[in-house]
Amino acid sequence: MTFKLTELPYDRDALEPHISARTLGFHYAEHHKTYVEKLNKAVAGTKYEDMALEEVIQASFRKNDKPVYHNAAQAWNHTFFWDSMDPASDGRPSGTLADKLDVQFGGLDDFRKQFKESAVSKFGSGWTWLIADGDNLAIVSTSDADSPLTTDTTPLITLDVWEHAYYLDYQNSRDKFVDAFLGHLINWDFAQDHLDAFETRRRLKV
Ligand code: FE2
Repeated sequence: MTFKLTELPYDRDALEPHISARTLGFHYAEHHKTYVEKLNKAVAGTKYEDMALEEVIQASFRKNDKPVYHNAAQAWNHTFFWDSMDPASDGRPSGTLADKLDVQFGGLDDFRKQFKESAVSKFGSGWTWLIADGDNLAIVSTSDADSPLTTDTTPLITLDVWEHAYYLDYQNSRDKFVDAFLGHLINWDFAQDHLDAFETRRRLKV
């Protein structure tokens, strides 16, 4: 196996009652695992085998090599999503990120409102992200497997809004799933780490 299924950073029941062990079990051990397996089949014997996963996403996107791109992006997106959640979350950021949310979105409540609006209005399957883009933060939603890694922006946090992420627990009420993520699961420390790394890279480039 060229690419490995990353381990979940917590037990399968750790996100209950907001995400059930059944949902997390299917999502990780069926959906995420299948993307990794399909990726390994698609890259077998190709130049992609020797690349890091991020490079595979960018190179296959440029070449419009869809089976590789879709499965590589989904493999990466899911790992990023597991890390975007923390069973001990109180939903509140601290540090420089809290200040930036105030400046950019008018505070945590307004950030939540805008993130929820983007996630709920995303038609069909996709992902909602908080990204760093130059001096700014932004909320974007992407379709299907699409990832900010194919742009000049840096992802800080993501929410999977494919139906498989929430249907067993919330049926078609995506809005309740988004509320649970923002209020009880979001891993702001993870986002802060990515923001710090992004700002360090920017300083070094100047
Ligand atoms: Fe998913």
